Amino acid sequence: MKILITGGAGFIGSHVVRLFVNKYPNYQIFNLDKLTYAGNLANLTDIEDKDNYTFLKGDIVDAAYVDGIFNEHQFDAVVHLAAESHVDRSITDPLAFVYTNVIGTVNLLNTARKQWADNLQDHVFYHISTDEVYGSLGKEGLFTEETAYDPRSPYSASKASSDHFVRAYYHTYGLPVKISNCSNNYGPNHFPEKLIPLAINNIRNEKPVPVYGKGENVRDWLYVIDHARAIDVIFHEGKVGETYNIGGVNEWKNLDLIELLCDQMDEKLGREQGHSRKLITFVKDRAGHDLRYAIDSSKLMNELGWKPSVTFEEGLSKTVDWYLQHPEWLENVTSGNYQSYYDQQYVSR
Ligand code: NAD
Ligand code: TYD
Repeated sequence: MKILITGGAGFIGSHVVRLFVNKYPNYQIFNLDKLTYAGNLANLTDIEDKDNYTFLKGDIVDAAYVDGIFNEHQFDAVVHLAAESHVDRSITDPLAFVYTNVIGTVNLLNTARKQWADNLQDHVFYHISTDEVYGSLGKEGLFTEETAYDPRSPYSASKASSDHFVRAYYHTYGLPVKISNCSNNYGPNHFPEKLIPLAINNIRNEKPVPVYGKGENVRDWLYVIDHARAIDVIFHEGKVGETYNIGGVNEWKNLDLIELLCDQMDEKLGREQGHSRKLITFVKDRAGHDLRYAIDSSKLMNELGWKPSVTFEEGLSKTVDWYLQHPEWLENVTSGNYQSYYDQQYVSR
């Protein structure tokens, strides 16, 4: 089977590519990525020379390019992760999110529909989305697959739009699709603009850790490798036309989470307990900051037998260890050096 994975040089995509390349040696995995600031091929050095892996540098917004690679490689399935993914960036530049998340997704859907027209039922287009499409919860309740869409940031609005297009292609053209909506991920290879890797990097460098507002917003955190495992299960066993929610049953107020992180890092770095908590700095709140996300993943657990493999304390500890053991990854990402990796490894050889 030939699978096109988009966004495979990013945070979650790199874990999905690695899992598929290693677990399914008979599949041919094609990783299509534009290598924006969030794409980093150093995330995949351990598998880049495998026979069943091919990297394609390109933009999903470029319809002719997308048509060209489908013609050339005749993909059987798509797992679509490429996106602009950071809420704060979407507040300053919403259009970038419309181009990639909406137009890019529709380009992929158009091409898949045309290319697979003779035997649609033999293919699958699996779209990876976020729980943020459901909006913001109050103190009680969980997002289920039936929760009405109510996106409130430009990021979540663009992801909601892409989800609607994916469903529209299922209902209108019979394109076999699957969608999953996942809660906040954390783990290795996470770009240090998002809360957890940013805080780890700042604690490591004894720099202020910015907490928006009063730190009372709640997120439901899932270890990225458990998300990749869920994507594997849904890709192979999920029903066509269905949506699956993926979450960690693991709600944390931002401030509590940062305090736990400070304490774990003090212990690992041999600092006095309480030392890193002094770095916590309350800053201006994010515009339109969603109060709480929390996911009910019972459909995925009951129907497909998935469950998270680690507790949050274990996952966070593994994550901190990874960043402390890979200071060069953080330094390359923060200096911008990682952006020359493609030229060094692919163009020059
Ligand atoms: P990321 O920002 O780390 O990676 C996105 C990848 O997409 C990058 O490698 C980037 O180069 C690539 N890309 C961006 N624009 C492109 C374009 N026009 N053409 C081709 N490639 C392009 O994102 P992530 O956190 O790994 O998220 C992956 C997917 O999972 C996204 O669709 C996101 O909405 C979804 N998601 C993320 C989370 C989370 O907590 N990070 C949670 C739920 C769902
Ligand atoms: P983030 O990692 O950007 O993910 P999302 O906005 O998609 O949930 O932010 C997670 C939470 O942490 C969110 O409530 C915003 C907050 N936050 C901070 O308090 N400080 C920061 O520096 C960042 C990046 C986020």
